[in-house]
Amino acid sequence: MPKRDDHYYLTTPIYYVNDVAHVGHAYTSIASDIMARFQRLLGKQVHFVTGTDEHGQKIARAAEARGVGPQTFVDEISEGFRELNKKLNTSTTDFIRTTEPRHLKAAQKIWEAANAAGDIYKKSYEGLYCVSCEQFYIEKDLNDGVCPIHLKAPELLQEENYFFKLSKYTEPLKKYFDAHPDFVYPQNRQKEMRQILEEGLDDISISRSVEKLSWGIPVPGDDTQVMYVWFDALTNYITAAGYADDEKFFDTWWPADAHVMGKEINRFHSLLWPAMLLSAGLPLPKQIVVHGWLTADGQKMSKSIGNVIKPYDVIEKYGLDTFRYFLFRELPFGSDGDFSFAKLEQRYRSDLGNDLGNLVMRTVAMTQKFCAGVVPSETSGDHEEIWDRYRAHMERWEFQSALELVWEYVRGLNQLIDHEKPWAAEKEGRHSDVEKTLYTILEGLRHIAIALQPFMPETADKILAQLGFEYFNPQFDTLQEWGLLKSGVPLIAAPPLFPPLTE
Ligand code: MSP
Repeated sequence: MPKRDDHYYLTTPIYYVNDVAHVGHAYTSIASDIMARFQRLLGKQVHFVTGTDEHGQKIARAAEARGVGPQTFVDEISEGFRELNKKLNTSTTDFIRTTEPRHLKAAQKIWEAANAAGDIYKKSYEGLYCVSCEQFYIEKDLNDGVCPIHLKAPELLQEENYFFKLSKYTEPLKKYFDAHPDFVYPQNRQKEMRQILEEGLDDISISRSVEKLSWGIPVPGDDTQVMYVWFDALTNYITAAGYADDEKFFDTWWPADAHVMGKEINRFHSLLWPAMLLSAGLPLPKQIVVHGWLTADGQKMSKSIGNVIKPYDVIEKYGLDTFRYFLFRELPFGSDGDFSFAKLEQRYRSDLGNDLGNLVMRTVAMTQKFCAGVVPSETSGDHEEIWDRYRAHMERWEFQSALELVWEYVRGLNQLIDHEKPWAAEKEGRHSDVEKTLYTILEGLRHIAIALQPFMPETADKILAQLGFEYFNPQFDTLQEWGLLKSGVPLIAAPPLFPPLTE
């Protein structure tokens, strides 16, 4: 049975456990969470998977440097990522580790399927390998002899390995790209992949000799080799969908609707992974969604520069929802963007404190003062076409534009207060005008809270709770309706959502 349209499966990359998480990892996870929550708003069932990538040379070396066995090492760091995931309030439904037995089974199964398709062969090989990328490079792709991402010289590897016939999939992938113009998103990332396809794909080494590296999944039928970490890691996306484990679950969720990742690993997801799936006779994911990189004050974040921003520090000081808002309001999804505390504080003061926080605060206060603290009588209102635009932006991962729209609405409601001056109207005995204004704003706030829910789930809940909605399951459909806020319902005042920052 084909997968149903009301089921949405999305994934984050699985994170390398060689080091603690930084703000770039949080960016990928939160972006995915925004989409997961938006899809639930649309009423879909969502399977949302994240996890950790635990094999390979990089991890083996990091464990060695710490003087502990690899399993002990990965257990500890993986736990750190699980904690971060909770801290970010991502609504994941599974956390996968590549050292789990279910994953070993899946990785071996897809290997066997590719082998059965005649796509795996053995040969002696010598190549330049960047351990930080876990990737071979050819001379022309290096910058003055160093890896363009890690700026380090690759190591010369020489051994007999298994190879995957990636070259065989150049033409099928071109055809697939032609037939699915939104497969890699956004377009500039699609173009980069097409360029590579035009040049033609080369076969790639997909195993390592156990003598050189034993920390990996054994190649089926050959104890002397373990799988190349990317072959193993990409497979996590089907492991978590039940491949090799639960056929019914697999039919329910595969193919994935979206794999989300940063641009440096696009190539693995848009070319190698689809080729592996074609080889194994499995359907391809619907979309590869690629975002840019975060820099810190204009510079690449790196341990050696010492400018790595830790998500915990930001959350501690400004609150999680501020962090989530800032990342997607300030930085256009898909391009690189700069993280700066100065810009974050500015957004906090203006958009969050001044615009949204104040709107909620003064509306609730005026309702208490002029309407005995209950929702005043209902005013007719129009369905706002802004929510159709919001939906279109969200569906296209244009989170910045979606937030801009919400803020236009927030500012419009603030202007309504300034224009209608309910305090003056009350004095002049125009109570029904006061009621009309306040109802319009309160019902508007219900809309705002729902539209913000994917971005700022706690803030949305807090706003809805003040409006008297408890345990409310927000749905996009209710943005198309006016008048769901019932008159007579008591408001529940609460402390400011975004109190002034203290030094
Ligand atoms: N383990 C691989 C992914 C395997 S998926 C089958 C990996 N892990 S990673 O931990 O290095 O990166 C995971 C994600 O974090 C990637 O999407 C990457 O783009 C993102 N980020 C890491 N640093 C980043 C920034 N500075 N900015 C934005 N995101 C970046 O690659």
